[in-house]
Amino acid sequence: MADLLLGQVLSFRGDPFDSPDAAQVLSQGAVLVDRGRIAEVGEAATLRARHPQARVHDHGRHLISAGFVDAHVHYPQTAIIASWGKRLIDWLNTYTFPEEMRFADPAYAKDIAGRYLDLVLARGTTTVCSYATIHPASVDAIFSAAQARGMRVFAGKTCMDRNAPEGLRDTVLSAYDDSKALLRKWHKVDRLSYVITPRFSPTSTPEQLSALGALWREYPDCLMQTHLSEQLDEIAWVRDLFPQSRDYLDTYETQGLLREGAVYGHAIHLTDREKARLIEAGASLVHCPTSNTFIGSGLFDMGLARSLRVGLATDTGGGSSFSMLRTMAAAYEVAQLRGQSLHPSQLWWLATQGSARALRCEDRIGNIAPGMEADLVVINLASTPAIEQATRRAEDLWQALFPTIMMGDDRAVAEVWVGGNRRGV
Ligand code: GUN
Ligand code: ZN
Repeated sequence: MADLLLGQVLSFRGDPFDSPDAAQVLSQGAVLVDRGRIAEVGEAATLRARHPQARVHDHGRHLISAGFVDAHVHYPQTAIIASWGKRLIDWLNTYTFPEEMRFADPAYAKDIAGRYLDLVLARGTTTVCSYATIHPASVDAIFSAAQARGMRVFAGKTCMDRNAPEGLRDTVLSAYDDSKALLRKWHKVDRLSYVITPRFSPTSTPEQLSALGALWREYPDCLMQTHLSEQLDEIAWVRDLFPQSRDYLDTYETQGLLREGAVYGHAIHLTDREKARLIEAGASLVHCPTSNTFIGSGLFDMGLARSLRVGLATDTGGGSSFSMLRTMAAAYEVAQLRGQSLHPSQLWWLATQGSARALRCEDRIGNIAPGMEADLVVINLASTPAIEQATRRAEDLWQALFPTIMMGDDRAVAEVWVGGNRRGV
């Protein structure tokens, strides 16, 4: 039987960075969900009359949106989120690498993968693009957990063959072989996509980057994810490690790791040449604002969203939150510090369609339109007394929504639908 969700329906017919009326709001709207997909979107009265048999879920003044898409996370860092007092390289060595070492135990990986996906689902996130650890079983764990929940998830084995502790290094050959075996096992199975994942240039030799570039040429429809120009110390280190490279991006470019489908996290301190090449190549960038303030990395230039695919992400656990609401708030604050004011429609778009576009799956998820997969979040716009009182004089949806963006948390998430199935949150 089909399901009919009633509420205020928010969808996008374009990119709000290009046109101010890209967002569409039906204040008494309806979404018909049938066999895992969105079948129809329209006025509540019309759809009710047309589908009298459908099971009705009346959400009143709640907002119905596409589920959030978190375009850059490290699910293995779930347990070390909000660790105190370090900057990037120290943070990796002190907190991250010891924790990732624990994923040598497949039972631990399974436990964290399930815990992580339940935490994000409770915050309205229905798709993530995750790094695993170097251990192949850590990829099996996240994909199995996603499969059990019916989620569309992107993930890959993190490859590192230098500058990481013993026990957390692979080799040129094992990175290639293990990545290929995992890709063949999981890519395009159910709603899963394999992502070729060199961690970042400091932890891969040029030979390993080259081997992963070769693997990407064999499987060109995969995404490739890595980190780019996050902190100044890191960039200086890359300069020392790759003296012949023109810049950080060049360390990837020369090894076949720059083209459409490349997804670079952070990308804060870019040179003009790097920006031009990223635009020319059609690459994607992912903005991770809570991470960039928490680890002290810098302020992303959202002006790049006019010429590049830009997604939004928590970067758990460098980021300090599992919530895309909190992440939108941080994106707003970072932009303010750069003299840019992001409109609520732009923030919401970044957390849904923008991230889906960065992951090149915007035709399937991240929007409410007929034929799209039915991954939905229902948002209570008055989830706490503080938010409720701030919305009382709201004159349009954006004024009603912005307090939830800035102050909302998991209490704002009334319901989540994954692949057409309702989940308790
Ligand atoms: N650069 C390389 N690895 C990482 C990581 O795990 N988190 C962040 N924030 N940056 C990185
Ligand atoms: Zn990261």
